[in-house]
Parts: sequence; C-alpha cells; structure tokens
Amino acid sequence: MKKKIIALALAFVLAAAMLSGCGGGGAKTYKVGVSIYKFDDNFMTLYRNELESYFKSKETDSVKYDVTITDGKGDMVEQTNQVDDFIASKVDVMIINLVQSSSADTITQKVKAANIPCVYINREPSEDDMKAWEKICYVGADARQSGTYQGEIIRDLPDNGDVDGDGVVRYVMIVGDPENVDAQYRTEFSIKALTDAGIAVDNLFEQRGDWDQAKGQELAANALAQFGASIDVIFCNNDGMAMGAIQSIKAAGRTVGQDIYLVGVDAIPEAVDAIKAGDMTGTVLNDHVGQSHTAVDAAIKYINGQSVDTYLWVNYQKVDK
Ligand code: BGC
Repeated sequence: MKKKIIALALAFVLAAAMLSGCGGGGAKTYKVGVSIYKFDDNFMTLYRNELESYFKSKETDSVKYDVTITDGKGDMVEQTNQVDDFIASKVDVMIINLVQSSSADTITQKVKAANIPCVYINREPSEDDMKAWEKICYVGADARQSGTYQGEIIRDLPDNGDVDGDGVVRYVMIVGDPENVDAQYRTEFSIKALTDAGIAVDNLFEQRGDWDQAKGQELAANALAQFGASIDVIFCNNDGMAMGAIQSIKAAGRTVGQDIYLVGVDAIPEAVDAIKAGDMTGTVLNDHVGQSHTAVDAAIKYINGQSVDTYLWVNYQKVDK
C-alpha cells in the first residue's frame, strides 16, 4: 500500500513538472515578458517582430521560449501593470521598452524585488538609474551618432544644404518625444555637425511630433505655410515623421533635391524606397535587427544565469542614395 502511494505521488510530481515549464518532448520552456511602449510605432513594430522571430530561431529540441509581448499604449500606468502581471506569472526575464525613460527606477525596484532580470531597450534610462541593480542592462544605439550622421549627410551635399544660396542653412526641426534622449540628441547633434563645419544656420521652426507620421505631416505643412521658400532643410528625428513631411512637401509644390532637403532616422523600408525615388535626401540606419538580436542574446544569458554588461551598443549607419 505504502509503495503504491509513493508511486502515485511520484507520478503526480512528474506530471506537474511537465505541465509547469517542461514542454512537449521534455523541453524546458522559459517565460519571457516583453512590453513595447506602444505598438503603433513604425520602428518599434519592425523591432518587435524581429525580437519575436529571433527568439523562435533560438529554440532547440530541449529549450523553448514562451514570449508574451504587450502593448504599453503610450501609458506608463498601463505598462507598470503589465510588469506587475509579468511578475505575478513568474516570467524568467523581461525586455522593457519604457513608455517613460524616467520611470526606469520604479520598474527596476519591482523586478529586483522579484529577482527577475530585465533588459531595457530603445529608451535609455539615466546613468544613475542603470546603477540600481546588476541584473539590468540597456540595449540601444548612441543617439548622438544618428544626429551627427544626419547633419553630415546635409553638410556633404554640394551646396552644404544651402539650397537657395543665401549663405545660411535655414531649417525646420521636427522633434520626436522630447522626454527621450534619442529626440534630444538628434535635435542637437544634427545641427552641431553643420556648425562644427563652419556652416551658418537658422532655426526657423522646432516642434514635437512624438515620432508620429500624421503629426510629422501636420507640422511640416505648418512650417511650409509659415516659412515657404526660405526653408532649406527639414530635419525629422525619425523616418515616420519624415514620411508625413514628404506628403506636405509635395502638397506645397516643393521638390526634394531641387529646392529643399529632407532627412530622417531609422531606414525603415518606406524611407529607403523614398530615397531611391528621390523624395528624401537621406536617413540613418537604426539597426533594429542588431538591437533586437542583442537584446534577445542578453535575455538568454540572464536566463542561463550569466552576467551581462550594463550597456550594449549597436552602431548607426548613414544611408543616402
Ligand atoms: C526611433 C523612432 C521611434 C522611437 C521610439 C527611436 O529610436 O528612431 O522611430 O519612434 O525610437 O522610442
């Protein structure tokens, strides 16, 4: 009788183990919680899809990844709830694209208390916040580089960006989300590349477009209506907003490469097509493939109990015709 009970108990424990974590064929399944600041973002959609497929490609017969990706909907409260849910469901690791970079420490304190390592992506927390725990890291690209490359694309044009030849590069700056260092640095360093080369500049118009195509279109239309032919260059902090600006440039009867220049950042496929078609002067590759792979590799290291460097940088690359 005793033997029977022990055998039954053993069978029960085995079955429970198979249900919790060991998938079919004896594979071990690890849970990964990913939260993206909002799904409705051109660049982060490419990034998110690549994250998912790269996790798939890392699976083997004995290791599976159960990846849950949630939409932060641009709402930090919503995203914090998603992190709480990930903790409650005992994920093994998280990958978080913060809605608000300034909320990094709130999230770190939560994951630290639950001992769940976390890879921050795309929206860089402050240096201080990155010191809070050894099991957090940041995967991103140095936004100063992308700004500098944008400026250099304009600087290296035969007329150095001064399309009307009046001796000054008069520009419009369509800014992403100013809370984000990507927006701050791209705005600053694109212009610095011109002034460092001794080029005179005039900032005609600078407004936030929150990385959004429709806002980019509206702001470019406003700027073109207000400053017309005096605009030499429209700088957009990302390609999404530049895609909107193309519509407004055309609607205003202007022609990129002839009487105006337009640059973005990301090298999303639509922007690469626009450059080929002559509708855009250039962009800067924000390597979502390199960044997503680096983030997944870091997450897998955490899962395996390995340590990860605090900062993992991926380079930008200039893209012109
Ligand atoms: C990208 C933008 C994107 C933003 C989201 C930036 O690095 O260039 O296209 O909207 O990240 O945080």
